[in-house]
Amino acid sequence: MLYYLLEDYASCLVLTLQSIPATLVPGDGIGPEITAAVVEILDALGKPFTWDIQQGGMAAIEKSGDPLPAALLDSIRRTRLALKGPLATPVGSGFRSVNVRLREEFKLYANLRPARTLISGGRYEDIDIVLVRENLEGLYVAFEHYIPIDGDPHAVAISSGVNTRAGSRRIAEFAFDYALKNGRKKVTIVHKANVLKALTGIFLETAYQVAKKYEGRVAVDDRIVDACAMQLVLKPWQFDVIVTTNLFGDILSDEIAGLVGGLGMAPGANIGVDAAIFEAVHGSAPDIAGKGVANPLALLLATGLMLDHVGRSDAAVKLRAAIDATLRDDGIRTGDLGGKATTRDMTQSIVRRLSNA
Ligand code: NAI
Repeated sequence: MLYYLLEDYASCLVLTLQSIPATLVPGDGIGPEITAAVVEILDALGKPFTWDIQQGGMAAIEKSGDPLPAALLDSIRRTRLALKGPLATPVGSGFRSVNVRLREEFKLYANLRPARTLISGGRYEDIDIVLVRENLEGLYVAFEHYIPIDGDPHAVAISSGVNTRAGSRRIAEFAFDYALKNGRKKVTIVHKANVLKALTGIFLETAYQVAKKYEGRVAVDDRIVDACAMQLVLKPWQFDVIVTTNLFGDILSDEIAGLVGGLGMAPGANIGVDAAIFEAVHGSAPDIAGKGVANPLALLLATGLMLDHVGRSDAAVKLRAAIDATLRDDGIRTGDLGGKATTRDMTQSIVRRLSNA
């Protein structure tokens, strides 16, 4: 009897360990198609997550009048973990970007954007760069106003950026910690401290203070943002982990996505103390929504980051291997990657690879 009870307990424990509660937001446009593909692929990987499905974005406006309903926020407060499809922000409606609101609500201070070559034969081979962007401060606090002069209400535009010592320290620690835990060799601090001496000077100074704690374990250097943008095109292999402020990170992370085949391949993680939200970097792609041709890989790669985050790197490694094999050996590619495959073709191929692993 005791044996059976113990066995039951053990299987419950395994189940709990294997299936982690997480919020799933299908999102707008191609969102429902690519999230359906990801869920099917994760099922083949042993269902590592138990989904609480919630609506956000336009889909939620239609239902509840709010693009970020309380039920969605409550769900993330409970699970502290979410996979989010792209959310369309209505233009000119007065709604603030749902993505920005989510970042602020859960204080998701670190944006992690890895870029790795998955398809050879492109402009660059063997790219493997991780960009860590500060997500809450800098010029994106958007303290902005106009000064009217001579009847022109927009004669002067003023924007103030805010970087704090604490915020700079927190993101630098995240970057160096990430480097250490993931076997990375170097962190490059990107800034514009030669001109924005206070705003990005504090970031550079603080990041170097943090770097001292990692001396001998993770190397450090720095680049001015414009030089970094050029070097990323000329000689991207010199970069390993990059840490930078909000606006520079926004721009450079799209640049590194471009080095490895564009937005359809770019995952992102927004990580805070209380929650973590994983997503594709691309938007809702209304031009191809409903056609069954969207590339699900960016969201799937984001799921890989989510598995790493919850300590299931074993599953993440399998998932990435199945993606590599689908692209490289099966030659399955959606339109954005120059192929003719549908979302379904790609999903089935990855599921097959996982089932045969
Ligand atoms: P977008 O990223 O949706 O589309 C840009 C181009 O890339 C389009 O030609 C689209 O067809 C293509 N594309 C994007 N994802 C693809 C995929 N997985 N497979 C194949 N092709 C893909 O950017 P856009 O058009 O500027 O934005 C559309 C909406 O998405 C807007 O409402 C915007 O606010 C929202 N958006 C949401 C984001 C998020 O939720 N994280 C991020 C960026 C935009």
